Amino acid sequence: MKDKITAHWNQISPNYRKMYRDHLDEEILLMQKLFLEKLPAGKKLNVLDIGTGPGIQAFVFAEMEHNVTALDISEEMLARAKEGAKNRNLSIKFVEGDGENLPFENNTFDVIVNMHLLWTLTDHDKFFSECCRVLVPGGRILAIDGQWFQPGYVPNRNYNQEERNHDELIEYLPLYDSNSPEMITDIMENNGFSEVSWKSLPEYAEYMKRCDPEGYDYLSVPYLATGIKC
Ligand SMILES: C[S@@+](CC[C@H](N)C(=O)[O-])C[C@H]1O[C@@H](n2cnc3c(N)ncnc32)[C@H](O)[C@@H]1O
Repeated sequence: MKDKITAHWNQISPNYRKMYRDHLDEEILLMQKLFLEKLPAGKKLNVLDIGTGPGIQAFVFAEMEHNVTALDISEEMLARAKEGAKNRNLSIKFVEGDGENLPFENNTFDVIVNMHLLWTLTDHDKFFSECCRVLVPGGRILAIDGQWFQPGYVPNRNYNQEERNHDELIEYLPLYDSNSPEMITDIMENNGFSEVSWKSLPEYAEYMKRCDPEGYDYLSVPYLATGIKC
C-alpha cells in the first residue's frame, strides 16, 4: 500500500499546487503570522515538517531561522522541496521516510508541523503517537488541514488516469472524508497530546480561493489544530 501511496504523490508532484507557486512569499508570511502566537519567543527551535511536499512549511520555519528537518514519503516531492530551498537559499535537512514510522530518536523536536497531510494517512493513531514520541516533553504539534471531500465521496470513474489513481487509494485513507477539526483533536487527545485546541483559518481560505478559484469548492474553512506533548 505504501508503495502505491508513494507512486501517487511522485506522479502528481510536477503539478501539485501549481496555482499557488507565484504566491509563495504571501503564503509564507501568512503562516509565520499564524505560528508566531503559538511559539516560544526568542528560542531557536528544532522543527520537523512531516509530509513536506514542495516544502512550504519547511520554508516558513527556516526563514524564521529555526533548525528545520523536512520529511516526505515521495522522493519526487522532496526533489521539488530541495529545489525550492536552493532557490530561497535555505539550509534544511531533507529526509525520505514515513510519517507513521518516523526515523528519529525519542525527544528530538520542539515543534512538529504538517499541512494537508492528515487526510492522506493510512494510520492516524500511529502517526500521532510517533509525533508524540519524537517531540520533547512540552513540544508542540501544529497541524493544518481541511475537509476536502464530501463524507461518503464516491469516486467518479470517468476521471483521467491521475484522478483514478487517487481514487483507488482513498479506501485505505480513513480520514480522507472525515478529517473534521473535532475528529482530529479527539485523535490527538487519544494519542498523548494535552492542551488540544483548534481554530479555523478564514484568511487562509481567502488566500486559497484567490490562488485557485475553480479548485476551491471545499466543504469547510481550513483549520489549525494544536496540542502539547505531556
Ligand atoms: C497533500 S500533500 C501536502 C504537501 C504539503 N505539506 C503542502 O501543504 O503543500 C501530502 C504530502 O504528504 C506526503 N505523504 C503522504 N503520506 C505520507 C506518509 N505516510 N509519510 C510521509 N509523507 C507522506 C505526500 O508525499 C505529499 O507530499
